[in-house]
Amino acid sequence: MTSFRDRAVGVFDSGLGGLTVAAAIRRILPEESVIYLGDTARLPYGNRSPETVRAFAAQDLAFLLKQGVKTVIAACNTVSSEALDDMQRAAGDVPVSGVILPGVREAVRSGARSMAVLGTRGTIRSGIYERELHKLDPSLKIRSIACPLFVPLAEEGVLSGPAAERIAELYLGNLLADPPELIIPGCTHYPLLRETILSVLPRGVRFADCASACARELKEFLERENLTSERGTSGDFRLCVTDLTDGFRIQAENFLGSSPGPMEKVSLS
Ligand code: DGL
Repeated sequence: MTSFRDRAVGVFDSGLGGLTVAAAIRRILPEESVIYLGDTARLPYGNRSPETVRAFAAQDLAFLLKQGVKTVIAACNTVSSEALDDMQRAAGDVPVSGVILPGVREAVRSGARSMAVLGTRGTIRSGIYERELHKLDPSLKIRSIACPLFVPLAEEGVLSGPAAERIAELYLGNLLADPPELIIPGCTHYPLLRETILSVLPRGVRFADCASACARELKEFLERENLTSERGTSGDFRLCVTDLTDGFRIQAENFLGSSPGPMEKVSLS
């Protein structure tokens, strides 16, 4: 029987983008087991209404709770901005956290005074990054840009080249006259496009590593709550998706930065 501390950390996203967070968790917390759920059958979430995002997030959460996880991370900014309170209520004693506050704290720690938040339509519409950044420092200059086409580019593995650059120029062109010091990738898919995004901006613009910040905060949380795994060996990794096609393995490897191992197709009903 697995002790509570040795249970897995549950991580989910609309698709494979949240694997950027799962990869950081595996790097920073190698003894923790992770169960990842990618709702690939219903990606993207970022263009949907808040009600639909909340309904999907409730099903994702229910799946992970059924697997007996000790905590859940919504590795999706869209869910984190629109459904976190509902999820925490539904999860009862199992703590649920999102990716936005770790990213906000990381951005403030960087010392940058001028920032651009890139995100899905849902995340940008929610205004959550500006609100949370200004709570920590009301004098920050923040611009927010919805970049919905970055998600299919990342899921398709089109990470560089003329098409990706053209789309990046289209979204970020308005920043050129007065470039920010820091880009905040307010979507877990966007770190894969880091080089392309930076290539269309002047030299010296930085790119926040929100996934590592999220994993470090998870480590602090597990230590504070006495929830760290006691197994003393590398944790297991289980990768579940709601739709599985031939290309997913290569895409998962792009996001994870290593072989994903077996991928399981699961049903949320
Ligand atoms: N990865 C999700 C996020 O962080 C967005 C992808 C989507 O639109 O579903 O917001």
